Amino acid sequence: MTFSHYIDGEWIEGNGSATFESTDPATGDTLAEFYRGTGREVDAAVAAAEAAFEEWRALSYVDRAEYLWEIYHELRERTDELGEIVTRECGKEISEGRADVVEAAHMVEWAAGNARHPHGDVVPSEIGSKDAYMRRKPRGVVGCITPWNFPVAIPFWHMAVTLVEGNTVVWKPAEQTPWCGQIVAEMVEESGIPDGVFNMVQGFGDAGAAIVDDDRVDTVLFTGSAAVGHEISDQVGGEPGKTAACEMGGKNAVVITEEADLDIAVHSAVMSSFKTTGQRCVSSERLIVHTDIYDEFKQRFVELAADVTVGDPLDESTFMGPLVDEEQVEKFHRYNELAREEGATVLVDRAELGEETVPDADGHWVGPFVYEIDYDPAHRCLREEVFGPHVALIEYEGNIERALEIHNDVPYGLAGAIVSENYRQLNYYRDRAEVGLAYANLPCIGAEVQLPFGGVKKSGTGSPSAREVIESVTDRTAWTLNNSKEIEMAQGLSADIKTGEDSGGS
Ligand code: UN1
Repeated sequence: MTFSHYIDGEWIEGNGSATFESTDPATGDTLAEFYRGTGREVDAAVAAAEAAFEEWRALSYVDRAEYLWEIYHELRERTDELGEIVTRECGKEISEGRADVVEAAHMVEWAAGNARHPHGDVVPSEIGSKDAYMRRKPRGVVGCITPWNFPVAIPFWHMAVTLVEGNTVVWKPAEQTPWCGQIVAEMVEESGIPDGVFNMVQGFGDAGAAIVDDDRVDTVLFTGSAAVGHEISDQVGGEPGKTAACEMGGKNAVVITEEADLDIAVHSAVMSSFKTTGQRCVSSERLIVHTDIYDEFKQRFVELAADVTVGDPLDESTFMGPLVDEEQVEKFHRYNELAREEGATVLVDRAELGEETVPDADGHWVGPFVYEIDYDPAHRCLREEVFGPHVALIEYEGNIERALEIHNDVPYGLAGAIVSENYRQLNYYRDRAEVGLAYANLPCIGAEVQLPFGGVKKSGTGSPSAREVIESVTDRTAWTLNNSKEIEMAQGLSADIKTGEDSGGS
């Protein structure tokens, strides 16, 4: 069977006969087949979303949230089953597969719960007889383009708040995880949400581009690669009235100072570097370590990197599953090679795993690649995101200011962490690290949905995710109401209409 698009409350094969497959990154097995959407399906989906908007926005927040509560309960009841599907389709180990579904449930819970919370501010006016308020209005049709590494959580980061706020949605899931896309769409359908409010088109970048290009799409939310995100923000930025919130990757770092607790440092560094096989946009590919503790840290980190289990992601004892696809494997090898060319001393090289050590030779298996390298701002291996278990150890001398110089010397700014027992160092990092998400004495992963999630510099514009998405999918109106029969103006501005009669002139 070939799975369809979900448009205007119907499952539609679409006009294109082209199909594509979802494969299991651990085995290379085909999981399911899907119709590949084109501009035509996007056109139909946008038309449906536009037509459904007026009725949907007219409902109360609380009524709209009722549909989301249905989805919330289903995510909770089916966490184990869906977690396994996430793991099979994107390869991350099973505790991460489940956490993806739990994170989705949290996001839906936050969005639906927020329907009963205040949505604006009462603001004083200079004039006693005026009431002033900040109110929010939905923007209209929101296009959502989501990545494969959080194939259930991130779609709900985009869509849960968007729907509760009264917008309608056209969503394109990542082409690597269409099965998760199918299941999310089925869940939304089963919630009974009115036809056209939510639409899903399966497909590749051309379908995503059709969403971005469509004039009827007022807002684009994108989470994914920097290359695509910059293209979208450039294009949308040039169109008045249209907005895009994009969250892209980073070249994130953990700073480990001379005052670090080394148990915390090693633990945090291993999780930051290797969880999700380095394929989180918040994963860390740089460890900036003070010279006084460098040797001890290096020895302990290397020991663990050489030993973490790479294997069947459905097995509870696995720490790292496979990379998502062959393209990622090639990129990983390319950057390992680049690091060597740029002068790296390789400390752990598990990039090529022998066939006898992996569960299935057709999977996309790699292990940790760890190196040390003298800091040089020109090194590309220290500036460009790999999205894999490729990690540089950089030794620094001197004070926390020096660590921050290295930390901030990248074009990106998504996430980062510091490990130190010294509160002055922590606070210096907090205030100066050029990132959207920062952690102290923790790995630089694991953001919770009730916090904003988004980056600075080349990592993002706006926050297409978690709590802050509300800013991207609503417009605020400053609303002032006069309770008096007289018109009185602020700032001492005269409200008198002066005519020829008043001045005695003609
Ligand atoms: C991502 O890295 O692509 O903060 C999303 C985390 C998760 C989400 C990460 N809650 O690690």
